[in-house]
Amino acid sequence: MARSDCPICQGTGWKLVERTAVGAQPLAVDKPGASAAGEPKLQWAVPCDCTSTDRTSRALASARVPERYRHCDFDNFETDNEIEGVSRDQVGAWNRSLSQAKIVVQRFAADFSPVRETQTEHGLLLIGTCGVGKTHLAVAALKEVTLRGHSGLFYDYRELLKAIQDSYNAESQFTEMGVLEPVLKTELLVLDDVGSSKPSLWALETVGHILNTRYNEKRITVLTTNFLDAESASNPEPSRAPGLRSPIADDTLTDRVGKRIRSRLYEMCRTVEISAPDYRKEIRNISRFAR
Ligand SMILES: Nc1ncnc2c1ncn2[C@@H]1O[C@H](COP(=O)(O)OP(=O)(O)O)[C@@H](O)[C@H]1O
Ligand SMILES: [Mg+2]
Ligand SMILES: [Zn+2]
Repeated sequence: MARSDCPICQGTGWKLVERTAVGAQPLAVDKPGASAAGEPKLQWAVPCDCTSTDRTSRALASARVPERYRHCDFDNFETDNEIEGVSRDQVGAWNRSLSQAKIVVQRFAADFSPVRETQTEHGLLLIGTCGVGKTHLAVAALKEVTLRGHSGLFYDYRELLKAIQDSYNAESQFTEMGVLEPVLKTELLVLDDVGSSKPSLWALETVGHILNTRYNEKRITVLTTNFLDAESASNPEPSRAPGLRSPIADDTLTDRVGKRIRSRLYEMCRTVEISAPDYRKEIRNISRFAR
């Protein structure tokens, strides 16, 4: 919807742009007889600027992106952070990890096309501890892809399982297929916080079914998880004293999703590991504070 009081389009949602018939060439002021007024002009209508925030919020709403992540895009993902009391080398390494992850996810979004020759490694698995920006990057990609007109869906892992479980309830307004079908069919599925719920047999079978179906139909999935692989570079965290480890923090991704799903994820996703501190707790952004 256009803004009804928009001074540019007067609420129509369209604005006229014009160009001379010589197209994008600059008007040569020094060329005799080529004055702007003398050129035949072409006019056409394009969506007015006042509709773009509407389009973004509609895309985000139909992709079910929760309110708290709607601000996330590539432009506001910072990779020049500063942390007090930490060595320059360490901060540099964290910032490099953030900027590499951003480049990979941004390229993924730019190249996104649902039509694929092969089904291997086209999705992304963003791995890293809490608060490093995994969901931020996944939402940024989803936003860009859905704004280009593709279908996309965001689901928190636990909420998806709960929605499916609730659909078994006789009073539920949704059938199991009503919940599952869009998840199986959407062009880009973001499954956030994989492994966050108890790995019951039912949960693993359900998630396995979703991932296998998407894999077999060559659909693309982006997943995030706080659970690292056993052999991962940032596991175990050296700074964490053994006595402070909870059993959950100690779990690997395989502990949480099982071997079959872990190996399916290897086949369908490129793994991107982000090694950085919790953004909300530790990071001060240089460009935000030093201005
Ligand atoms: N590098 C970053 N630049 C800007 N904001 C960030 C960055 N990393 C995280 N955030 C913000 O911090 C919050 C937590 O990030 P989130 O993506 O939810 O972390 P994760 O999913 O890895 O736990 C979000 O509001 C997110 O927008
Ligand atoms: Mg997250
Ligand atoms: Zn307008």
